[in-house]
Amino acid sequence: MKDFCEMKRRGQKITALTAYDYPTARLLDESGIDIILVGDSLGMVVLGYPDTTRVTLDEMLSHTRAVARGVKEALLVADMPIHTYDTPEQAVKTAKRFVDAGAQAVKLEGGTSHVTQIEAITQAGIPFMAHIGMLPQSVREEGGYKVKGRTQSEAEALIADARAVEKAGAFSVVLEIVVADIAKQITNVIGIPTIGIGSGEHCDGQILVTHDLIGLFPWFTPKFVSPEARVADEIRRAATAFIERTRSGNVLSNSADK
Ligand code: KIV
Repeated sequence: MKDFCEMKRRGQKITALTAYDYPTARLLDESGIDIILVGDSLGMVVLGYPDTTRVTLDEMLSHTRAVARGVKEALLVADMPIHTYDTPEQAVKTAKRFVDAGAQAVKLEGGTSHVTQIEAITQAGIPFMAHIGMLPQSVREEGGYKVKGRTQSEAEALIADARAVEKAGAFSVVLEIVVADIAKQITNVIGIPTIGIGSGEHCDGQILVTHDLIGLFPWFTPKFVSPEARVADEIRRAATAFIERTRSGNVLSNSADK
């Protein structure tokens, strides 16, 4: 495992992207990404659920196994789905199942509210990545994907969360759609790296859902993402070309007489 705290100290930015399958994981790994996350965003961008709350442990484990086959260099982190870490005992049991599936670290959503679970996981010797700010598994209670840290009390709660997860043994913390100035403050007051998503430039690293980065989920793109590719357009173009070729009888053969 790379020394991510050392990278923070040196000011070397940490890069992280999601993967849910073997080819994507292998391509990202070969590109030199530092961290690959099997995120439970899987539920939305791969499985077609409306949010992440329907993702099951079996689905996450199956995709983690596929990703693990494609990763050689990057740190492989897996998301623990909702209701698989309700108690410290359950959290450790779930984390161990991810390690058996090939993950090198696990992530769950929550700060001070989940310190006992985080401590149990890190004391079991499993590296842990925290996730605070907007918590997608709570989107129904929250009534949407809302920016965090706008009020004084929200900002104080976020800083308390960041300190708590560091103390509980997390090696890094994801800050999801946190006001940029609060993300900067958190980055300055904790020793572990902050990995931002929609939280501004001052975080120690950045993470994105790969489908957003490469334009593979064209029906919704978060405001903070500037896609680097238009893969959905390429799929449509290739499919249309295949349909036209097939319908016009222009089909290649593998046999020598053709
Ligand atoms: O599920 C996920 O992909 C995530 C990232 C957005 C941080 O948790």
